Amino acid sequence: MAVNTKIALVTGGSRGLGKNMAIAIAKKGIDVIITYNSKKDEADAVVKEIEALGQKASSLQLNVADSATFDSFFINVSEVLKSTFTTDKFDFLVNNAGIGIHNSFVGTTEAEFDQLTNIQFKGPFFLTQKALNVMNDNGGIVNISTGLARFSFPGYAAYAAMKGAIETLTRYQAKELGARKIRVNVVAPGAIETDFGGGVVRDNEQMNQQIASVTALGRVGLPDDIGGVVAFLCSEEARWVNAQRIEVSGGMML
Ligand SMILES: NC(=O)c1ccc[n+]([C@@H]2O[C@H](COP(=O)([O-])OP(=O)(O)OC[C@H]3O[C@@H](n4cnc5c(N)ncnc54)[C@H](OP(=O)(O)O)[C@@H]3O)[C@@H](O)[C@H]2O)c1
Repeated sequence: MAVNTKIALVTGGSRGLGKNMAIAIAKKGIDVIITYNSKKDEADAVVKEIEALGQKASSLQLNVADSATFDSFFINVSEVLKSTFTTDKFDFLVNNAGIGIHNSFVGTTEAEFDQLTNIQFKGPFFLTQKALNVMNDNGGIVNISTGLARFSFPGYAAYAAMKGAIETLTRYQAKELGARKIRVNVVAPGAIETDFGGGVVRDNEQMNQQIASVTALGRVGLPDDIGGVVAFLCSEEARWVNAQRIEVSGGMML
């Protein structure tokens, strides 16, 4: 009997780490729905890349900061599951979409704090809650944290605190969703060269070298260092990995 192809939903799959995750997941033989916030063209290009790998793919608009839109988002997900994937549920959710705001603890404004809360914590919290209605049992959730939740770099108090919250939430989700055989893990990348934070890790040579100098493997991270780890967590080989924080930082700030 043919095994049904699994489907993953990756938020923020248009660029950076999410794009890399989506493609790495597709390389495991899993179909993918990606979301984008504003960059539809880039999302469409990722869909084409996944289709060229022989998997089904689709992209949908989603602003994770706006939980009032989540019900209509999942109506769109259901429609696309039916039309493109000829099914009604998906298997893996990767809560990747996010932004960084660099400011000191003392300088952080309430507006910055609220924006980070909405995108980095409240969004994934309620998105996941609603996603469970359209997810199969025996699947998984991968949340995305940061190395900054373990070590401290000045300027990331609010951002890192939200990611710390996601790490705690991961354990609670794993505990409660175990009954449905849904595994929940959190991947914590170190500093990676993407557009994140205005592309500072990639474009600011001094920052790049400073991070490389405090990383055991002697360089900053690249998107290719991350996607495969998330794809592994969406695979059968990871069936007994649950409630884990997996840092993928090349050994940063040991
Ligand atoms: N890069 C790093 O050094 C690093 C390290 C640790 C953790 N992380 C985490 O990894 C995740 C991805 O970061 P990245 O480096 O790939 O960033 P990125 O290159 O800036 O890409 C961000 C992605 O998130 C989407 N996005 C941004 N705001 C959104 C919103 N309000 N609603 C929905 N989607 C939104 C973007 O969509 P559009 O393309 O449509 O704008 C894009 O797909 C984030 O959670 C970040 O905190 C990054």
